[in-house]
Amino acid sequence: MRDKWSSKVGFILAAAGSAVGLGNIWKFPYSVGTNGGGAFVALYFIFLIFIGVPLMLAAITLGRKTQLSVFGAYKSINKKWSFVGGLGVICGFFILAFYSTVGGWVIYYLKNALLGTLNTTNPDLLGKTFENLLNSPIELISYQFIFLLFTMLIVLKGISGGIEKASKIMMPALFIMLIVIAFKSVTLKGSMEGIKFLLTPDFSKINMQVAMNALGQVFFSLSIGMGVMVTYGSYLGKKDNILNTAILIPVIDTAIALIAGFATIPAVFALGFKVTEGPGLMFVTLPAVFASMPMGHIFCIVFFLLVLFAALTSSISMLEVCVSYFVDERNKKRKTSTVIITLLIFIMGIPASLSMGVWKNLDLIGGLNFFDLYDKLTTNILLTTGGFLLCIFVGWVLKAENAVKEIEISGNKFRLAPVWSFLIKYVVPAAVFIILINSYKEFILLII
Ligand code: PFF
Repeated sequence: MRDKWSSKVGFILAAAGSAVGLGNIWKFPYSVGTNGGGAFVALYFIFLIFIGVPLMLAAITLGRKTQLSVFGAYKSINKKWSFVGGLGVICGFFILAFYSTVGGWVIYYLKNALLGTLNTTNPDLLGKTFENLLNSPIELISYQFIFLLFTMLIVLKGISGGIEKASKIMMPALFIMLIVIAFKSVTLKGSMEGIKFLLTPDFSKINMQVAMNALGQVFFSLSIGMGVMVTYGSYLGKKDNILNTAILIPVIDTAIALIAGFATIPAVFALGFKVTEGPGLMFVTLPAVFASMPMGHIFCIVFFLLVLFAALTSSISMLEVCVSYFVDERNKKRKTSTVIITLLIFIMGIPASLSMGVWKNLDLIGGLNFFDLYDKLTTNILLTTGGFLLCIFVGWVLKAENAVKEIEISGNKFRLAPVWSFLIKYVVPAAVFIILINSYKEFILLII
């Protein structure tokens, strides 16, 4: 018999742990900044409600129904679809390759917080610190390696280890911490501009590019489209109510992203940073917020420690998808697979780490560096493709009626079943398809 989660709380903690990570705290705020502010936030919400939440339910249902991890889940219902699991593995490789770069940055900042070297509100100095890191290949690669090493060690110990138990304390701590930082950020002098930037949607700023990035961000943030939620759902028992879980995870995830937005963006405006800074936004801005707080030094240390934890609960879910493919489908040994895959990801990740410093001038494809290439390939192409295939599969191959039956097995009436079925069969595939076609078009135009 397969393992079940020791409790439903275990599942929620693991799934929320996968969803909440750098995507919320690091990526969401800077994507808001580079995609025009409130318009991006508004689109994010629309996509979240009409695409993200229905797909979250579809993924968990598919896992619970088949009681198999993502490859087996698709295969057991229709053999021809097993490639979707493979797509998830490729996606996991590439996401982790650049996610570990940022994980490495977090460890570097944690070290600096401990040494007390981040204690300034000067945008130039903080910009320099980040710049110096980007231009130190040895440090970048070492910290990336340490991040992957942590990820590997946790995965080697199996899924139900102490990590979920630790989340019970770490996640609420992160939540409270972010609220305090956000409070400080919105009360800084001059923060009003930032609050307006976040909350006032200028709809003229919406174009295909912004739509693509907002949808990609929904998939990335919810960990949907590469099989994590299918696999995690497969550990649920038939008595567990999956409806409330499929809502609860996006609610937690979005709350954290929004609060991270409020912690970062108003401070960007108040303290004189650039909102279009890109991936460095959190790393240059938040230390300045800490420096303007009493006991900011301690805050800074605890914050980076909690972010590291959140990043690890996400990175383990990506590595787990890759490892379980080789263990379940290729009959490889778990230990050996974990070590080899981690090493491969590390090698692939090195160019991502170097691409904003010493390899800055090495334009790869269409002027993108490795970091952006991995990001675009996964967020805009692979995850979105995975999400598209998931809704077609659950809506039409497994069939929405059967999915609804599965959802109701636990004895809960699914009152919104007709709405969900309609969304999953028609609205989600159509909307995702239109955006996806544009992503492909843009990607192909970049490469040729
Ligand atoms: N959701 C994670 C985050 O927001 O940091 C990133 C992620 C994890 C994406 C797992 C995809 C995935 F399968």
